[in-house]
Amino acid sequence: MTVETTSSPKKRILSGMRPTGKLHLGNYYGALYNWVKLQKNYECFYFVADWHALTTEYEEAGKIRDYIPEMLMDWLAAGLDPEQSTLFVQSALPEHAELYLIFGMFTPVPWLERNPTYKDQVVELSHKDLATYGFLGYPVLQAADILMYKAHGVPVGVDQVPHVEMTREIARRFNHFYQPIFPEPEALLTEVPKLTGTDGRKMSKSYDNCIYLSDSLEVVAKKVQGMITDTQRPFRKDPGEPDRCLAFPFHRLNLPTEKLEEIVVECRAAKLGCVDCKKMLSEALLANLAPIQERRHYYENHPEEVKEILLAGNAKARKTARRTMAEVREAIAFNLDFQLWP
Ligand code: TRP
Repeated sequence: MTVETTSSPKKRILSGMRPTGKLHLGNYYGALYNWVKLQKNYECFYFVADWHALTTEYEEAGKIRDYIPEMLMDWLAAGLDPEQSTLFVQSALPEHAELYLIFGMFTPVPWLERNPTYKDQVVELSHKDLATYGFLGYPVLQAADILMYKAHGVPVGVDQVPHVEMTREIARRFNHFYQPIFPEPEALLTEVPKLTGTDGRKMSKSYDNCIYLSDSLEVVAKKVQGMITDTQRPFRKDPGEPDRCLAFPFHRLNLPTEKLEEIVVECRAAKLGCVDCKKMLSEALLANLAPIQERRHYYENHPEEVKEILLAGNAKARKTARRTMAEVREAIAFNLDFQLWP
């Protein structure tokens, strides 16, 4: 167990995920898999970013709550270990909101308006009204999440790099105006494999083309068999090209190199057909997913354990959060002790 001390020799990692539905293989290989690996060498804080989900899902706020235990079960199933990592929910710690408010006082609006992720998202999610104060301020809240724990490293995908960069700028600005209490975090780029959904579009809940971590093994096998392969290989006797095949990136994640090379050669020589090739993929994927599914089953049947893990994680995170907020209030001279009054 990691003991919470300020002189902890391990560097600190923090990352969060918005609870917007059950996790699919894109989320797993793009983030979670890496989070699990980081646990060994870092002191990790991982949290459910439910307030961040609210910035886009404010019309259906009730759904967010239901997704929280689902997400936690996916995390635990994937191998996040509450003995090694602190797992918590953002909204259980009002300290995040307080720090966000303070950072909001000195974060220039043009920084937020210039943020490329913001501009992309407003276009991509054009069916939603995102001309809100909360959505513009999304990176300020993220900076509060990260700096609250004085994280050294923030594992994220490329789309989140501008947010980590802005966190560094907010830290610098705070340190400059008040007292130098915040380290500048680094983005740890997660190499996101190019996984598409079963139909070739980005794997996304809204396209109904996902393989979910919680899908039964039979469903996974069926979805794999339905995956589009090389569309320029109409017949089994035609040579194929793995680089055009949607299943091949999944092979890469699930098979050893020698096996991969063999597949490439045999596909190009029309020796291996897509049905058999996908059967291999199915088997390898299922072997990797089986222990995850087993753990998920366990937690589904022990919801009280999931709740306990969460409450313990919240309590642990709160200790650090309170310590940081005491320092922040001291730094900005807002540590009212009511001694000013007679
Ligand atoms: N914005 C992140 C995402 O959409 C989620 C997130 C919120 C986060 N706060 C964070 C990630 C702090 C890293 C650190 O993926």
